[in-house]
Amino acid sequence: MKARSDICILGIESSCDETAAAVVKGGREVLSNVVLSQIDVHRLYGGVVPEIASRNHVEAVDKVVKQALADAGLTLDSIDAVAVTYGAGLVGALLVGVSYAKGLAQARQLPLLAVNHIEGHVCANYLTYPDLIPPYVCLLTSGGHTAIVNVMDYERYDVVCSTVDDAVGEAFDKVARVLGLPYPGGPQIDRLAQQGSPVYEFHSVVTSNGNFSYSGLKTAVINLLHNAEQRGEKLNPADVAASFTRAAIDGLLDRLAAEVKRSGAFTVAVAGGVAANSYLRRRLSETEREGLRVCLPKLSLCGDNAAMIASRGYYMYLDGKFADLTLNACPTLKLRGEKPHN
Ligand code: KG4
Ligand code: ZN
Repeated sequence: MKARSDICILGIESSCDETAAAVVKGGREVLSNVVLSQIDVHRLYGGVVPEIASRNHVEAVDKVVKQALADAGLTLDSIDAVAVTYGAGLVGALLVGVSYAKGLAQARQLPLLAVNHIEGHVCANYLTYPDLIPPYVCLLTSGGHTAIVNVMDYERYDVVCSTVDDAVGEAFDKVARVLGLPYPGGPQIDRLAQQGSPVYEFHSVVTSNGNFSYSGLKTAVINLLHNAEQRGEKLNPADVAASFTRAAIDGLLDRLAAEVKRSGAFTVAVAGGVAANSYLRRRLSETEREGLRVCLPKLSLCGDNAAMIASRGYYMYLDGKFADLTLNACPTLKLRGEKPHN
């Protein structure tokens, strides 16, 4: 029998507009990480077009998996299990990865691991910090999710709070669109904000009961721009981007600090696409101190990738959490324990 540290998981990710495959050894060591982005195609339409995404995944998935194996210098004979994202995401896009993984598992008699995409994002931290072990508090910040979770161990976490409407990444994308920036808006706002000053004040994104709300912030930015336009004033877009960024991120960091204090945690981690935001990374790094470790995933692991899916799959493998061939895509998959707000 193989030692735990030698177990190799093939990860497959196709939940949105990236077709990705990766091989991870022992849950922590990235042997390969192939990400084929479709952003250039979707940018023409100002956002992801689900039908086009599915079709491109179909065309790419086999090539991407073969590339991941080649980059790792392995064949399927050395793979111990196949981990695939089965939700949340676009149903047609998810189905491509899920069907491919099921086919592979069946043909090669490999165990199948059904990974929750957001739980995968958390594991980007294990790939960046091989010595990181639970417990820690994790801030989840993606295009579809915004939450703070207490990670107790690899299989147990508590959702402390989450967004009642839009996710933070979604807010970045929507505000970018209002500012006339191309899709995806997060990185564009990030760049623009660095040239501006946060001269405009917006309300906090933290609600009175400690959750997050981003729809009001988005509307406030739209109103600011419209009112200026009606007065014939031209606002500096970089100042608007910097002000929006401060409001969008400061609320997350304040709430995170409150949870760290309440729980007495010694470690915080961030996960999801917005973890790439330079303002968030700088502000959070500044809070590192004796007794509080701050973990920020490598930039290459913040966005969607399959290495994080393989890492999550590894822990499910150790726990015997296998899926069977009835596995289906689950576009609205939640975090375990996440409460609906309405
Ligand atoms: O985790 P992710 O790649 O996909 C989902 O699972 O949703 O997150 C994508 C989101 C998008 O909304 C994108 O605009 C945002 O992450 N994002 C950023 C940055 N890079 C990506 N937001 C702010 N600053 C960034 N540098
Ligand atoms: Zn994601």
